[in-house]
Parts: sequence; C-alpha cells; structure tokens
Amino acid sequence: MATLLEVSGVSVSFDGFKAINNLSFQIGPAELRAIIGPNGAGKTTFMDIITGKTRPQEGRVLWGEKSVSLLKMSEAKIAQAGVGRKFQRPTVFEDQSVHDNLLMAVKNNRAPFSVLFYRPGFADLARVEELAAEIGLEEELKRKSGELSHGQKQWLEIGMLLAQDPRLLLVDEPAAGMTLSEREQTTDILREAAKTRAVVVVEHDMEFVRRLNCKVTVLHEGSVLAEGSLDHVTKNQDVIDVYLGR
Ligand SMILES: Nc1ncnc2c1ncn2[C@@H]1O[C@H](COP(=O)(O)OP(=O)(O)O)[C@@H](O)[C@H]1O
Ligand SMILES: [Mg+2]
Repeated sequence: MATLLEVSGVSVSFDGFKAINNLSFQIGPAELRAIIGPNGAGKTTFMDIITGKTRPQEGRVLWGEKSVSLLKMSEAKIAQAGVGRKFQRPTVFEDQSVHDNLLMAVKNNRAPFSVLFYRPGFADLARVEELAAEIGLEEELKRKSGELSHGQKQWLEIGMLLAQDPRLLLVDEPAAGMTLSEREQTTDILREAAKTRAVVVVEHDMEFVRRLNCKVTVLHEGSVLAEGSLDHVTKNQDVIDVYLGR
C-alpha cells in the first residue's frame, strides 16, 4: 500500500532526556491507526513532531507522493499541506450555532481571499449539512455550541477539522470525559473519516481502541514497542511487562 506519512529514525531530546528515541512509523492514505502506551511514552511529542511544533534532532518525516520533508516546513505550511490536529480542549465558538461554527470552518477552507465580503453559496451550505451528518449533529445545527454536551463539542471540533479536508487527522485522547454512548459514536465517526483519509488516534481507553478495530502502535520510552492488531499487541510479552510495570 502507498504511504502518506513516513517517519524514520526520529529522536528528540529535552535537556538530555530522550522523549522520542529512534522512532519509525508509517501510515497509508486511507488508514486508521491507534497509538497507545503508558504516560510519558512520547505519544503527544510524536504528534508535535508531525505538526512541526517540536523539531527532532535526528530522523526524517516525509509526506505525500513526493516525499517532501515536513521538518523544514512551518506549522502553518504543514497544516496547509493537509495535516489536521485535534486538541483535547475544544476551540469551538460557544456563542455561535453548530451551523455557523461549521460554516466558518468551510469558509476558511474555501475563501481565504475575501472573508469580509463572504456570502455562503449553495455548495458551502450543502457541505455544512454533509459535515453535520458525518459527526452526528444534523439535529443540532441550530443550537448554540455552548449548549452541546462535552462529547458533542468534541464532534463539532472534528467536523471543523474535516471541513478543511485534511489528508491526515491527528486526534489526541478523544474519549476523555465522554459517556459510553459518546465514546461509541466517536469510534464510528473516526472509522468513517478514515475511509477517505489517514487518521491517527492516541487513546488510553482500551475498549475504545478495541472498537476502532484497527492496527495499533504501542509506544514506550519514545520507541515503537509493538505493532499489529490489538489482540496481537496485547499478547506481546514486552507490552504486558510495560503495562504491568515490570
Ligand atoms: N517540552 C518538553 N520539555 C521537556 N520534557 C518534555 C516536553 N514535552 C514532553 N516532555 C517529556 O517527554 C516525555 C514524553 O511526553 P509526552 O509526549 O507528553 O508523553 P505521552 O503523551 O505519551 O504521555 C515525558 O517524559 C515528558 O515529561
Ligand atoms: Mg499525551
């Protein structure tokens, strides 16, 4: 299968401490991947490297068909190249409706030249409806975003990222603070999104990871400890030892 993102031999030190140690990772253009690992394993730092927030001292990060290096690109350029990242704290505009939040995201994607004189066209409004359906908020379009549940706000944020049509979506601990049914719906949203793009999900909740039903990468001390199906990696003795703290 083709590769969208190829990370190889990447290392990052913070004051001499190796947070990422010779890490290699690949993902295809329409693939869902879960990243698990104990606290401090380097999961968030790994995402920071891909998005350009943290620069590694060693290694390569290659992107797309032309294998361009992300390491020389600014965070803004990396986002423009198609890397979208969802942070834990939602950044939706609480005073505005779900519809208007989504429309703003669509418009930011479509009309960078004249936001001031922007009037939404039919295509943009249709795209808002489509996104709302993808994130299960089609019944909530008129509601103020501030009134949504925690889970619904997270979905709205995912919808706003999807509006930018990222080729790779990075999601850090989406299930935190969600109810069981919200977690279930979140796995459905991410699985659907990964049919047309790459999606990398960092998550602690093993039931959530099981429902994602995808290849899993286990990080430990900044390196890949194991990779494969959840059943495969949870039978791996190194993984068992790490999780039992041996
Ligand atoms: N900016 C930073 N400065 C110093 N140490 C950091 C920094 N960011 C992360 N670390 C350290 O790197 C390690 C990996 O952190 P992180 O990527 O946040 O782990 P995870 O997300 O898997 O819990 C941790 O030991 C953390 O304390
Ligand atoms: Mg983290």
